[in-house]
Amino acid sequence: MGEALYQGRHFVQAGDFVHAGEISTQLKNALKKLGFPQPAIRRASIASYEAEINLVIHSKGGWFQYRVEADRIEFIVRDVGPGIENLDLAMKEGWSTATSEVREMGFGAGMGLPNIKRNSDRFRISSGKGAQTILEFRINVKWPGDKKMPVYLDW
Ligand SMILES: Nc1ncnc2c1ncn2[C@@H]1O[C@H](COP(=O)(O)OP(=O)(O)OP(=O)(O)O)[C@@H](O)[C@H]1O
Ligand SMILES: [Mg+2]
Repeated sequence: MGEALYQGRHFVQAGDFVHAGEISTQLKNALKKLGFPQPAIRRASIASYEAEINLVIHSKGGWFQYRVEADRIEFIVRDVGPGIENLDLAMKEGWSTATSEVREMGFGAGMGLPNIKRNSDRFRISSGKGAQTILEFRINVKWPGDKKMPVYLDW
């Protein structure tokens, strides 16, 4: 494992729309501050936001964990249920169990999980009815020749 330039572990409460998105925003700002390349920031921001919102909307709460290294950004999102009965369906674009209330807030297009997968270099999800959902994804960071890799960050 490489050196962690930045990392975090936060609990996300079910239905907490007031704070929804704060973790991914905080991460995005840290990546900017670290001078990470834009494509990596964009992909990490999109994927982390979708994962964070899924915890709020669909889960009974869960831990959102990430680790930033110079060449990768890794995420582990682990909730306490209620689980996903059919993962093949859940991974389909446009498939959603979101309530009409949630849809009115602009969520529930059924694009979150496919979007996370599309923006990740590694993607794994495990779940089941009544089980925890464990979502792991990684974004590889490609540094353009003219950009200096961060070696140390003094907060
Ligand atoms: N952590 C989770 N716990 C339980 N069910 C989940 C979880 N994450 C996703 N799901 C299920 O998978 C479906 C698809 O998730 P996805 O993120 O792709 O779409 P969505 O959240 O419904 O809509 P969008 O992400 O476009 O706002 C959800 O509707 C839900 O049924
Ligand atoms: Mg979603």
